[in-house]
Amino acid sequence: GTLLVLNGPNLNLLGSREPGIYGSATLADIEALCSNSAAELGFTARCVQSNHEGVLLDEIHQAREQAVGIVINAGAYTHTSVALRDALAAVNLPAVEVHISNVHAREEFRHRSYLSPVVSAVIVGAGINGYRLAIAQLAELLKD
Ligand code: DQA
Repeated sequence: GTLLVLNGPNLNLLGSREPGIYGSATLADIEALCSNSAAELGFTARCVQSNHEGVLLDEIHQAREQAVGIVINAGAYTHTSVALRDALAAVNLPAVEVHISNVHAREEFRHRSYLSPVVSAVIVGAGINGYRLAIAQLAELLKD
């Protein structure tokens, strides 16, 4: 099966963006890590990054027919987007929310996630390893 790995706004800048907070890994590094982690567990990763909320919504909708689970780092949309929350709630797929940084140790406005109530698990502050943990958790949930 396919796991949709969605990265939201500004995550294309990883590597050069606030490295003290997000580390030196690039989006390409994350996508390679996700592809490898998924393959080890018998899945295929479909990795998509977009700075556009509507593109992220369209991907979640498509996942209904094309994927078996979702890993999502929605970036700042985490803290603003009722639409992404509604999309995740609408599709009947297990989803895991990831944040590279520990959002709870940062500004107050990052403490609230609109997505957390509608996902199965949340992984924050584990750096890019969070994506591997998320994929492992989805594989566990999808075991028959
Ligand atoms: C982030 C945390 C968000 O608050 C921020 O807007 C991001 C990245 C993270 O991975 O730590 O863009 O989702």
